[in-house]
Amino acid sequence: MLALNDAPSIRHAAADAAPVVELLSAEKIYSDGTRALAPVDLAVRGAEFLTLIGPSGCGKSTVLKLMANLIEPSDGRILWWRGGFDSIGSDGRRLAFVFQDPTLMPWARVEGNVRLPLDLAQVPAPLARTRALAALAHVGLDGFAHHYPRQLSGGMRMRVSIARALVTEPDLLLMDEPFGALDEFTRNRLDADLVRLWWERKLTTVFVTHSIYEAVFLSTRVVVMAARPGKVFKTMTIDEAQPRDGAFRDSPRFAEYCRALSGWLAEVSSAATGC
Ligand SMILES: Nc1ncnc2c1ncn2[C@@H]1O[C@H](COP(=O)(O)OP(=O)(O)OP(=O)(O)O)[C@@H](O)[C@H]1O
Ligand SMILES: [Mg+2]
Repeated sequence: MLALNDAPSIRHAAADAAPVVELLSAEKIYSDGTRALAPVDLAVRGAEFLTLIGPSGCGKSTVLKLMANLIEPSDGRILWWRGGFDSIGSDGRRLAFVFQDPTLMPWARVEGNVRLPLDLAQVPAPLARTRALAALAHVGLDGFAHHYPRQLSGGMRMRVSIARALVTEPDLLLMDEPFGALDEFTRNRLDADLVRLWWERKLTTVFVTHSIYEAVFLSTRVVVMAARPGKVFKTMTIDEAQPRDGAFRDSPRFAEYCRALSGWLAEVSSAATGC
């Protein structure tokens, strides 16, 4: 049987690691009165790959935006490395956000797009260039630095967006449905790349998806959210060896996790629609 609901062990250090970002009774009511999040308690630990999944409107993006400090909670608190957001920079920590849309500058070449965060931070040009090229190599795009975004496929553009996030060497990576618009084959390939990158860097990652398969393949922990207002419904630990590959996807355990998760999602979806 699978270990559901916060099993005590996972096969890397994250279970015991200190929290990187924490929602403490965090609530969000938008200015038009929409209650997007009921008080939510959620701690993401160092080197964890945590995925949020749940019906549309359950507050996944809201949680990510709170974690990125793009919006403020209406009540409760968010802590980063057990401190306030202001202390992140002075401690030399960084976070990066990847959106569903790669949001590249069409007039700039791939290298210019990837360098943007470094140029904004006034990193000297030769160093920025070296780091941009290294980030592009990491996502399998060496040789494309001088292309324009329009010359790339959707999957390649998404890789550029990930390279732009990685170039700052973030300590916390927030990804909101980054592969949602891609075909399944490309998505599986990028998922496999992402697992490798995450494993190499032990990069604390919070990921949002609507795909059960993607959630199970990528995550050390999956948080299922329910809607109206958004809240944590249940948590599933995916206690499997890392880094994962196609063999895990083909395994009976993978299917078992997916079945269990699918059952939980059916519960929250029927509660949301009243069906
Ligand atoms: N800026 C905003 N102003 C008002 N309401 C908002 C705002 N952003 C989100 N909401 C509302 O808050 C709730 C949660 O939205 P959120 O975008 O976090 O959900 P989600 O789980 O990411 O959905 P999806 O899966 O469709 O991306 C929804 O009811 C949404 O309509
Ligand atoms: Mg969303």
